[in-house]
Amino acid sequence: MTVELRQLTMLDEKAFFEGMKEWKVDELSWYTFAWRDGMSFSQMLEILKKEKAGIDIAPDRVPHTMLYGFMDGKIIGRVSVRHELNERLRHRGGHIGYSVAEKFRNKGYATDMARQALDYCKSLGLQSIMVTCSDSNTPSWKVIERFGGKLEDRVWNDEDNEMIRRYWITL
Ligand SMILES: CC(C)(COP(=O)(O)OP(=O)(O)OC[C@H]1O[C@@H](n2cnc3c(N)ncnc32)[C@H](O)[C@@H]1OP(=O)(O)O)[C@@H](O)C(=O)NCCC(=O)NCCS
Repeated sequence: MTVELRQLTMLDEKAFFEGMKEWKVDELSWYTFAWRDGMSFSQMLEILKKEKAGIDIAPDRVPHTMLYGFMDGKIIGRVSVRHELNERLRHRGGHIGYSVAEKFRNKGYATDMARQALDYCKSLGLQSIMVTCSDSNTPSWKVIERFGGKLEDRVWNDEDNEMIRRYWITL
């Protein structure tokens, strides 16, 4: 059982929209940053391509690659890989952010996706990466610590009104 973690292609339109239905209860940004109502799938792929290359991105964003996790042709989650940190990500967000749709959780999928995302980070030339999570997000910090995450500190995050943990993983 291995999640296939990869970028979307034109062949993934159906899987993308099916996968999006799983995110009705959670914030849609856990599934996609690029998608907007009324957009065609190919327009969204174009945005993802530009975001990866750092073209036309907002001043507070950095180049990132969105990788989707597939199991049996269905999208079960995603990982956003930031190619570098800015001040905001250095405080909260870090290099990678992952999510798994509720009905697919606690099956090891986030662990599997994180393993592959770390390889992707290496392929970008990163030597160590920062990962942050809410202090109370046990599944998330378990994933981080499984891959050797060293706790840098716990800090208060005003944006989400909660304590967060900041970790570094040496690749
Ligand atoms: C965090 C998240 C990605 C974990 O996904 P997942 O696929 O359920 O994670 P896994 O199945 O790989 O489990 C990871 C670890 O957490 C444990 N775990 C899973 N669900 C748990 C729960 N509800 N309570 C405690 N531990 C739990 C697993 O046993 C595993 O631990 P182990 O390595 O010791 O066996 C998922 O809960 C999620 O998408 N949450 C919302 C988005 C989010 O918070 N993302 C993280 C941002 S940093």
